[in-house]
Amino acid sequence: MKKRYGVVLIGCGHIGEQHLEDIYFRETIKIVATVDNDEERARLFAAKYGADHYGTEYIPYLTLAETDIVIIATYADSHLSIMEDCLRYQKHVLCEKPITPDVQSGRKFYELVKNAKTKVLIAHILRHNKSYQAIADLIHNGAIGDLKLIRMVQNHHTMNWPRYQRLLEVCPPIVDCGVHYIDIMQWFSGSRVVEVSGMGCKLDADAAQDNYGMIHIKMANGCIGYYEAGWSKNLASQNIKEFIGDKGRISLLLRENRSQDREEGDLITVYTNNRGDYQSINIQSKYKDMYAQLSTLIDMIEQNIPANPSIDEVFSAFYIALEADKAIKNGTRLAIQPMGELQENRRNYNSKPYLIKENHHETDQFFDKQIC
Ligand SMILES: NC(=O)c1ccc[n+]([C@@H]2O[C@H](COP(=O)([O-])OP(=O)(O)OC[C@H]3O[C@@H](n4cnc5c(N)ncnc54)[C@H](O)[C@@H]3O)[C@@H](O)[C@H]2O)c1
Repeated sequence: MKKRYGVVLIGCGHIGEQHLEDIYFRETIKIVATVDNDEERARLFAAKYGADHYGTEYIPYLTLAETDIVIIATYADSHLSIMEDCLRYQKHVLCEKPITPDVQSGRKFYELVKNAKTKVLIAHILRHNKSYQAIADLIHNGAIGDLKLIRMVQNHHTMNWPRYQRLLEVCPPIVDCGVHYIDIMQWFSGSRVVEVSGMGCKLDADAAQDNYGMIHIKMANGCIGYYEAGWSKNLASQNIKEFIGDKGRISLLLRENRSQDREEGDLITVYTNNRGDYQSINIQSKYKDMYAQLSTLIDMIEQNIPANPSIDEVFSAFYIALEADKAIKNGTRLAIQPMGELQENRRNYNSKPYLIKENHHETDQFFDKQIC
């Protein structure tokens, strides 16, 4: 019989709810407790997702033997102290990004995870998204030749402005969301960021800091990219994901942004210039596949597989996002120095040939050339 994992959620907010609603009914999961500074939120979550306990303090639930996994879904400024407590009580942890708000505490977090006796996965949810995995496969198998340019925009028109205002007290969107997309740039290109510059501004007077940023990135292999992230009452929601190589182009249109055939899922379009044709791939992909993510942690526990992404990859994306924010604030272009072990950018996603075999590169050769 499969083990049933006891899960404690700390942080009953927007992302905490997305975690629970995708896992609470699974036969391998039991929600032990829900915890929030706001007791009423914790109570509501416990009632909705069948938790045995709820409260404002998490330590009592870390002492329970039935607690196997803790999901940390609070703001980045509390991740380090909660992680320390979870590891002291020898719990496995799924922790939301960004790991912390600044590089000093980020290094402590990194060391803590590196030395952990239990398993820790940082919630880079797009690593578990089927559409992003398919695009990685296509690129890694040479569908568009050598990746040259990455264009990504992720702007939110904020309906729940107070939630974003609270997030802005800790991190600007270029860091909060940027860690995902910088990780994608390194994952897809198989290279690492060597240079970053950017600009940002405060679009809303009542934002705690810049709530819009635009960064330019150069990778060691010559690939370049830009990323734009904003949360504002004034911005339109916009989502551009485009990857251009020397033999073609891949673009991703999420299901919710499709005007038709939405029921088919996300739409990946692959243009190849040697044939001048377009191929459409529909992927039944959940944007935030929380169960796939938690299943990765369970596989780490049961099969000792590595984290995806590794803590080195997580730290690397986090560090670059902070440097990007610094470049915006100081109006400078920054070189990103290799950071010993932290520069490691291995591809631990198990790539399989996906489609379009005509342009197939010898994968190992491709990566020998790309990885630095
Ligand atoms: N992976 C993703 O796609 C994704 C998406 C959204 C948010 N996030 C991340 O998740 C984190 C939370 O964001 P959110 O949008 O859910 O915020 P939110 O404001 O909706 O929820 C946060 C909740 O945590 C509670 N909380 C804060 N500190 C606490 C503490 N020390 N102990 C107990 N409860 C505490 C708050 O009361 C609130 O209910 C942030 O780090 C954010 O960057 C990740």
